[in-house]
Amino acid sequence: MYSGGNASSLPLVGGSSEPTIKDLSKPGRRAFNYPKLDVPEEKIEHNCIKVEKAPLPEVSEHDLVMHFSRLAHRNFAVDLGFYPLGSCTMKYNPRFADWVASLSGFSNLHPATPGKYSQGSLEILYKLEEYLKNITGMDNASFQPPAGASGELTGLLIIKEYLNNNNMSNKKNIIVPDSAHGTNPASAKMAGFDVVEVATDINGLVDVDELKKLVDENTAGLMLTNPNTGGLFEEDILEISKIIHDVDGLLYYDGANLNAIVGVSRPGDMGFDIVHSNLHKTFATPHGGGGPGSGPVAVKEFLREYLPGPIVIKDNDNYEWYQPKYSIGRMHGYHGNFLVALRALAYMMLLGKEGLDSLGSYAVLNARYLASKVSSTIPLAYEKPCMHEFVATVKELKKTNKIKAYDVGKALLDRGFHSPTIYFPLIVEEALMFEPTETQTVDTLDDLAETLSIIINELINSTESFENYPKNLPVGRPNELIPAKHLTVNWGDFELLEITE
Ligand SMILES: Cc1ncc(COP(=O)(O)O)c(C=O)c1O
Repeated sequence: MYSGGNASSLPLVGGSSEPTIKDLSKPGRRAFNYPKLDVPEEKIEHNCIKVEKAPLPEVSEHDLVMHFSRLAHRNFAVDLGFYPLGSCTMKYNPRFADWVASLSGFSNLHPATPGKYSQGSLEILYKLEEYLKNITGMDNASFQPPAGASGELTGLLIIKEYLNNNNMSNKKNIIVPDSAHGTNPASAKMAGFDVVEVATDINGLVDVDELKKLVDENTAGLMLTNPNTGGLFEEDILEISKIIHDVDGLLYYDGANLNAIVGVSRPGDMGFDIVHSNLHKTFATPHGGGGPGSGPVAVKEFLREYLPGPIVIKDNDNYEWYQPKYSIGRMHGYHGNFLVALRALAYMMLLGKEGLDSLGSYAVLNARYLASKVSSTIPLAYEKPCMHEFVATVKELKKTNKIKAYDVGKALLDRGFHSPTIYFPLIVEEALMFEPTETQTVDTLDDLAETLSIIINELINSTESFENYPKNLPVGRPNELIPAKHLTVNWGDFELLEITE
């Protein structure tokens, strides 16, 4: 840790301090030097020209590089450690896909380049659409939505337009399970629907009897992820889809959990009409940090003309942009996050059919292996065998030893593992949700299970407060709510707020 220079006294947990780039500034220092001017200096006079010097930090190049490299190493990253963040599919993504996306023919192409001068890029989208159609069992896709939540909104706007065009504008209700990701009800509401919640039964699946009571002529559709957010496969999906279709409602598949079923089953065959895929989870772009994502929406043939346009079509050997007839309009300024889509195609072609066919199976195998190990330390929320992720709960440990999911997550971070997702799904008390993905070795899974058992023992037998965890990280327990509610982007106004429960 840096200790020289004029380090600030910012109170970071763990006893460390780090100067800001402004603290390192010394007048006259430069990270670069221009050659001496060898032409006469020309003064530009204009009232828009700023006369005061910009208050930028003055640092040497090496200080600059060291500063930002040090900061970067304070972050937990998927390249540094195991990241079993449930629902987020933080798998390791091969460097090959990054290399393809960095090729200048792709990365320097302006998105407004007309189709006839960017045939290669149109071909990429067309080919990726073919792969996605095969994987999801759908007929057409648009790549505009830049994330999963945006895909959800797109899908719901498509449902709305379709219902309006077919004299069914009375249909106002979108049914969402109580276990759903928060973006599901939020997207339905944003699209102008009313949200109707359906309960989960004791086995962790949609309560079908409850669903039957909720469905009527006002049902516009159902949003579901399968496997669901408890990591369980909705076994009654064919019955569920019949119940919704019988009243002319549509089925929306939240593809956030597609990683579990790639190569094994397809939402299209389960009865879903619209699917978004999170390319940034399942196919070679890490999810998280709000970074660029891609949530293409694929639909069955009867909804093709409602897709956000333009979409790519092929005419003989030419690729062209096509504007669907009843398109809901644009969901993105250009064609979505093209380089994320490109990474996905590179990844799919690298794995080939064999690799893609076994992806979901290995993801499930790893999750079941880890679940069986973890269950000897922390009970699982559901007895059914999990799919690609599973939920454990420290509800009892909270009662007996005041151990919370939050404490376990922090203690894991202290020992080099990212925390699993905590307090989600909301219907499980003190939930810890693990998703190992297919990219982890059995040794890493064993390490995590063993570390977890050591931590729980330590927490049970400890006489000190659990709130002292983490002890070894530069940042400990910042208040996670305040920055979300009161965004402060000025360093000078920044205060690191400790949790005061
Ligand atoms: C089940 C589920 N649905 C939807 C989303 C939203 O996806 P995105 O973060 O790409 O908007 C997530 C995100 O992790 C998710 O886990």
